[in-house]
Amino acid sequence: MHTAVLAHGIGPGDEVITTPFTFIASANAAIFAGAKPVFVDIDERTYNMDPGRIEAAISPRTKAILPVHLFGNPCAMEAIMDIATEHGLAVIEDACQAHGATVGGRRVGSFGTGCFSFYPTKNITTAEGGIITTNDDQVADRARLIRSHGQRERYYHEMIGYNFRMTEIQAAIGLVQLGKLEQFNAARRAHAEYLTARLKGVVAPIATPGCEHVYHQYTIRVPDRRDALADHLREQGIGTMIYYPVPVHKQVAYQRLGYEDHLPVAERASREVLSLPVHPALTREELDHIVEGVNSR
Ligand SMILES: Cc1ncc(COP(=O)(O)O)c(C=O)c1O
Repeated sequence: MHTAVLAHGIGPGDEVITTPFTFIASANAAIFAGAKPVFVDIDERTYNMDPGRIEAAISPRTKAILPVHLFGNPCAMEAIMDIATEHGLAVIEDACQAHGATVGGRRVGSFGTGCFSFYPTKNITTAEGGIITTNDDQVADRARLIRSHGQRERYYHEMIGYNFRMTEIQAAIGLVQLGKLEQFNAARRAHAEYLTARLKGVVAPIATPGCEHVYHQYTIRVPDRRDALADHLREQGIGTMIYYPVPVHKQVAYQRLGYEDHLPVAERASREVLSLPVHPALTREELDHIVEGVNSR
């Protein structure tokens, strides 16, 4: 993501519009390039950036919109692309949690410049690392330079770059994983549908109509005593996680940078969300155990 932001020529003095309800790396990508992340609040149903709030955040310094397809649920890409086109902005999609997800039959990461993480917990992995997808030859060329010390030809450096190369060993793992992506995603989707049909007293995740959610996380909303439910599930051997307990603009690292935003929808979500197991290896018995755990609180 750092490479993608740099490859779009974004730097000091520029602004990048993104969501506060994400893993911190989404916003850090702008900071690494010397630019400023500007946060817009989220849609309370999807947890993704609310496209209705983007235009108010655009300034003469805005260079890009950086939507995050959180939990594997695609953002409202048609609305986001319309705004970007109208204002001449780049779109950098954080698809780190959404390998294979679609909007109107089109894959995420193909609308703007796509960034995919292959960290071990992701829908597919290369142990560490990730890739950028783009149809823009200039972005691809700059990204190639940035990832390998700014050299097109060995020891001739056109720009200051980094060593962000993926190893051949990781790529070999990734190719085999890629062949399993559809099967992994189908299992995640089936597990999500099974849970949604049976869970009671909690708000299940929604799949936006016309979009294919790939359930990197199955995240429920528990407005009443979320932490007590997490404790209750832990006692029965059911692991849960809170993604994310602190929105990015409230992180100590961002407070130190002077962020004072109040983004109530994201802040409330961080107090109410709870992610349940949804990984492809779950058995029917384990899914039933999760359902009983949630419904018996
Ligand atoms: C939404 C999001 N963006 C960015 C990242 C960063 O990816 P990586 O850990 O591969 O640097 C992650 C996951 O780790 C993520 O979930």
